[in-house]
Amino acid sequence: MPLSPADQAKSAASARALQLVEDGMTLGLGTGSTAGWFVRLLSERMKRERIHVTGVATSSATVWLAQELGVPLKKLEDVGHIDMTVDGADEFDSHLNLIKGGGAALLQEKIVAASSARMVVIADESKRVARLGAFPLPIEIVRFGWSSTRRAVAELLNGMDVDGREITVRTGSAGPLVTDEGHYIFDLHLGRIGDPPALAAALNAIPGVVESGLFIDMAAAVVIGHADGTTEVIERPVAPGTPVDQVELMRNRDA
Ligand code: A5P
Repeated sequence: MPLSPADQAKSAASARALQLVEDGMTLGLGTGSTAGWFVRLLSERMKRERIHVTGVATSSATVWLAQELGVPLKKLEDVGHIDMTVDGADEFDSHLNLIKGGGAALLQEKIVAASSARMVVIADESKRVARLGAFPLPIEIVRFGWSSTRRAVAELLNGMDVDGREITVRTGSAGPLVTDEGHYIFDLHLGRIGDPPALAAALNAIPGVVESGLFIDMAAAVVIGHADGTTEVIERPVAPGTPVDQVELMRNRDA
């Protein structure tokens, strides 16, 4: 059956990122549908080329997928070093700052990415935005006293440069969704985030907020896949804070 345009794009981005993988690497394996494509293509390449790679998963869902596909895994605490993490994103901007956590795995994703020499994001064109914030920003919350934490987050948002301020508690099949780390997720419906680094820092300063889905200055590159099978690679500018449209873009239109 032919792939949908969205799957074509995700598969193209994953195949391009797979070219960065070398025999013997330890790889952070992201979570979500795009990262799932990467894990599937990685498994196929490992079998085809008989290369050996060790994965570090960013969620229970990715553990199950990797195990099903025969990709060997180690826990983060058992590897000394991660060469590269490949993960999806819900949004990325021209600074390659990200919103992540649509799949509720943002905490493990951030810890694994922060432990990696390089984070490469794989995405389709729909994830590229001029300003972060149309996608509701997930934040991971300790369950103890969560309604007090919600009030503190609401007070914080009153003083932030955002367009919307609604906070919803993410639900699963039986009440509030509980993450792999035993926490709740709040989704912040902000519309537009004027200053993502300032918001990320302010959220992290609230007791009860474990982490936000804002990934600031973490992605080294974004690989964008298109439905026609072509890809673009955007590398983060060397000087933090410089928009990528002001620096040389590395483009690849070779599929
Ligand atoms: C998981 O928590 C997220 O950070 C995902 O990486 C993100 O939601 C992208 O998912 P898709 O590749 O399914 O769009």
